[in-house]
Amino acid sequence: MALVPPHVASLTPYVPGKPIEEVEREYGVSDVAKLASNENALGPSPKAVAAARDALDGVNLYPDGSAYYLRNALAAKLGVTPAEVFVGNGSNELIELMVRTFVLENEEVLTSAQSFVAYKLAASAQGRTLVEAPMKGRFHYDLDAMKKLLSRKTKVVFIANPDNPTGTCFPERELLPFLDAAPRETLVVLDEAYLEFVDLPGYQDGLALRRKYPNVVVLRTFSKIHGLAGLRLGYGVARPDVVEYIDRVRAPFNVNHVAQAAGVAALRDDEHVAKSRALVLAERPFLAAGLAAVGATVVPSQGNFVLADFPGRPGKQLFEDLLREGVIVRPMVGYGFPTAQRITVGLRRENEKCLAALKKVLGK
Ligand SMILES: Cc1ncc(COP(=O)(O)O)c(C=O)c1O
Repeated sequence: MALVPPHVASLTPYVPGKPIEEVEREYGVSDVAKLASNENALGPSPKAVAAARDALDGVNLYPDGSAYYLRNALAAKLGVTPAEVFVGNGSNELIELMVRTFVLENEEVLTSAQSFVAYKLAASAQGRTLVEAPMKGRFHYDLDAMKKLLSRKTKVVFIANPDNPTGTCFPERELLPFLDAAPRETLVVLDEAYLEFVDLPGYQDGLALRRKYPNVVVLRTFSKIHGLAGLRLGYGVARPDVVEYIDRVRAPFNVNHVAQAAGVAALRDDEHVAKSRALVLAERPFLAAGLAAVGATVVPSQGNFVLADFPGRPGKQLFEDLLREGVIVRPMVGYGFPTAQRITVGLRRENEKCLAALKKVLGK
């Protein structure tokens, strides 16, 4: 008898970015610039950290299983009702819950090839069929191709806008024909993890679209703009019946007490949000220009990271070379970009360190 079903046996685990301590030990380097996981270079929201510290005194009790204050705070901020808000242990958990809750055995998950790997993992872990449209122009969601792959079996669609790892983003007018074509029973998930870093004319976040398209589900996270990746906190907005079904499937205490308190405080920390956005908007062009100057093909990004292709430079090798210089980036070989690195937009000195290391190892 097999220990696990075939769809579990064939899974490959998610490969996270290398931790700083491990790189320091292995490579004998210090003052490492970790630009591997699209984290917030400014650190966590100070208000959230203070609230998290206070909340520690209460961790003998189970958290509020309904996340009452957090869901109310989110609802007030977003102009929706608390019944339309759901929260999770990172938006990653919510991606999984969308598949576990809604996709039946003979139904399909649709997304774009080379987009965020969690969509693929969520479908595979449940043994559900994943349908992927190829990207257009190597780095862009092809919503027309995705539209053609819609069928009566398509139950959940994942669309990252902006996308990870490419950083590309599309305006509302490109999305509308897809939404018009999607059956009402198909849940279209707009994953807006990087929403706050967008400065694309014509971009429209998914919240307003929900009025016309009740099958739209919006996912967001506290990991990026609020700098709380280590606390694991994400949220979604959907129709009350969709939220209610997710509530039945999720673990009873999926968001811990400290994260709930930090999340409420982070929503009040407009200063940290503004600073984090300003940093990325200022440093993203600096990093992109520096990367182009060392010969990379840089994909124009709307996220807090940049995808840079180094033709002729195998991704794993360049990644290792940079580790030796104390710079951690993320090779994108597993995403089907064999010579590309995804590099988080850091502080100026981190970006400079990364560019100097690249110049050295590329012999520029
Ligand atoms: C597009 C996208 N969605 C969701 C997530 C998951 O974020 P978290 O689980 O930290 O909320 C990420 C993380 O990198 C992402 O890039």
